[in-house]
Amino acid sequence: MRETTLAAATGAPLFIQVYNEDQEASRAELRRGLTARVPHIAPKFLYDALGSRLFDAITELPEYYPTRTEAAILDAHAEAIAAAIGGVGSVGSLVDLGAASCAKGLRLIRLLRPQRYVAVDISVEFLRAGLTQVQREHPQLQVTGVGLDFSAALNLPPACVQGRAAYFYAGSSIGNFTPADAVPFLAGVRAQAKAGGLLIGVDLVKAEELLVPAYDDALGVTAAFNLNLLLHLNRLLGSDFAVRDWRHVALFNREHSRIEMHLEARRTLTLHWDGGERKFAQGERLHTENSYKYSIDRFDALLRDAGFASTKCWTDSNRWFAVFWASG
Ligand code: AVI
Repeated sequence: MRETTLAAATGAPLFIQVYNEDQEASRAELRRGLTARVPHIAPKFLYDALGSRLFDAITELPEYYPTRTEAAILDAHAEAIAAAIGGVGSVGSLVDLGAASCAKGLRLIRLLRPQRYVAVDISVEFLRAGLTQVQREHPQLQVTGVGLDFSAALNLPPACVQGRAAYFYAGSSIGNFTPADAVPFLAGVRAQAKAGGLLIGVDLVKAEELLVPAYDDALGVTAAFNLNLLLHLNRLLGSDFAVRDWRHVALFNREHSRIEMHLEARRTLTLHWDGGERKFAQGERLHTENSYKYSIDRFDALLRDAGFASTKCWTDSNRWFAVFWASG
């Protein structure tokens, strides 16, 4: 693990980029995925600079209900949530995992008044604008941005998190882990939160007529988000994906209670990259993302499997989305 501190000044955010792996390790992971019997690519590769902007656009689509439903739950139950966490001034460090624009974190800062705000995202560059805004609004707050692929390991620089910690994992990003991978991840958060806990948003299982359009919207923004992965792979791997040869597919896999995103070859083709190739038959798919949908009981059980002794949960009137506070 290597760390680079990018800027530091009093009253200004501190930025730290942590590199978990070198580029060759990423390329090896991509080559393994492309040559697997069922070709797949990890969803973290959806988020290059353009992918992150497309994801922001997704959160504004009429079909994509999770972001606005979660925000409505946080607003409607703000006082109860703040009380469950311990009340104003009880949090030493608010650690926002996948903070992006920090808009959701800002809500919690206003609610909890922590001493420190630690925003974590895969690239520190995605945090700059949001953290500048946070610091402007809260000049006394100690603000740190950490660029880290925490899906691999939650290796936060130790000095970042001090005092009682409230971790915040919004947007149902936990749904992008398999349940088997989610448990050790949540257990890792619990170990680091110590006397604090985790506030986490979870998308709930619902009718397919609502789920599928959220991942296959009429404007085609999610299609662009998924297809942009190919341009990112071309840069990382020197591959020759032609975007027009592929189409976006989103489906609900009821057996696994998950939305799956795939890219499907429109014609039979051979894909080349530096040192390798793979033939794709027309209709063959590259699996790019899972987004698991839970029941409240199932997710509660997952939190308990991860070691949390106490859970509280708030939901919207449609029961589309849930926010949990897990502690102990
Ligand atoms: C980031 N994550 C929670 C989103 C989701 O809903 O699984 C990513 C996404 N993929 C397509 N649309 C949104």
